[in-house]
Amino acid sequence: MNVLLLGSGGREHALAWKLAQSPLLAKLWAAPGNPGIAAYAELVALSLNDRPAIVAWAQRHAVDLVVIGPEQPLVDGLADDLRAVGIAVVGPSAAAARLEGSKAFTKALCDTAGIPTAAHASFEAAAAAKAALARFGLPVVVKADGLAAGKGVVIAATREEAEEAIDEMLGGRFGAAGATIVIEEHLDGEEVSLFALSDGRSVVPLGSAQDHKRAFDGDEGPNTGGMGAYSPASVLTPALERQAIAEIVRPAVDAMATAGTPFSGVLFAGLMLTATGPKLIEFNVRFGDPECQVLMTRLDEDLLPLLDAAARGTLVDRPARWKDAAALAVVLAADGYPGMPATGGAIGGIAGAEAAGAHVFHAGTRLDGEALVAAAGRVLAVTATGAGVGEARARAYAAVDAIDFPTGFCRRDIGWRELAREPATEAAP
Ligand code: AMP
Ligand code: GLY
Repeated sequence: MNVLLLGSGGREHALAWKLAQSPLLAKLWAAPGNPGIAAYAELVALSLNDRPAIVAWAQRHAVDLVVIGPEQPLVDGLADDLRAVGIAVVGPSAAAARLEGSKAFTKALCDTAGIPTAAHASFEAAAAAKAALARFGLPVVVKADGLAAGKGVVIAATREEAEEAIDEMLGGRFGAAGATIVIEEHLDGEEVSLFALSDGRSVVPLGSAQDHKRAFDGDEGPNTGGMGAYSPASVLTPALERQAIAEIVRPAVDAMATAGTPFSGVLFAGLMLTATGPKLIEFNVRFGDPECQVLMTRLDEDLLPLLDAAARGTLVDRPARWKDAAALAVVLAADGYPGMPATGGAIGGIAGAEAAGAHVFHAGTRLDGEALVAAAGRVLAVTATGAGVGEARARAYAAVDAIDFPTGFCRRDIGWRELAREPATEAAP
């Protein structure tokens, strides 16, 4: 099978690494890719914004399957354009990508399908939004409807903060993404992510993970795309996972099919484990990054037939096969991330880190002549497995310590929630 993988992050490096192990793979291309992905794929200089160029290129090269990593091209309709010329795609149509692209759409779907989520209301006018605040108590959550690069959510502790967020979002701070806002009840509990693959009808659960959103240790500092993750997240017990699939994932897949906009691709459910059960915080329509890195190192079966079945509508309901292991990823970011990252800094020691037993997935790296340098905020995701999260973490940090990246930083406490739960013997590094 000839596969084109789209994206350039650690998520896509992990997908390339896993796809390259498939005996069914004939040829792997990646666009735009990165130097890590280049070990498994031929890189193609295509921009993810240029949909006609991607479609034409895929047709010319007899691509059998396109795997779309990030959300923006999905929301923009790239999967539709490829399907229109008969190419199989892993990833939803623009209509189904509204599950990530519009929070108001997803809330309406939750109402229709009876999916448990925070009490909510959508607004286009500030006066009505402010008048509704009293219904929600404090803290209250104010969200821009559309994609806002993780910055469109304010958890307001006071009414004044909430009103300020309403004015800012409806005033155009996030452009069209904030033309509609959602106000919702604040949920208490622990957050966990659950992944599932669907072909529009069937569902294969793809495991759980917990991310670390804040830049610095102790969950301090600004929000990021994710500074580390581990899988499985034991807080989502098998019983809770079954409940979340039955009450959240499957009803969403069924409701999308009933609406004539079936969801095919990877559904990433951000859940809050509340006292009254799992509730949906948000859907994403793709793998998470760095969640994908930990899931791929744990998956104990060929990824390609799974993705191909999702793309062609031939998936069957069944559990995926997993290694009897946990995985943990530590992100190395360039100094300044998530603000203005210092790019161009030299990166060394990757071979030593891999010899220490980790996978070093590239994200924002590029080659400057022979030298590997930082090219964006998140630079590497150092990922290791172990019998438990504690062992995976010890291996991941041993590999991190073998890397020489003086203009970068990482969190030192990835996995702290899980370590607090694991027996002390495993917690010792
Ligand atoms: P979202 O972009 O919707 O995932 O929101 C970003 C983050 O805000 C989530 O990962 C949660 O930590 C937090 N959050 C969003 N909605 C709520 C809510 N209703 N209650 C509590 N925390 C929330
Ligand atoms: N790590 C969170 C995300 O990919 O959205």
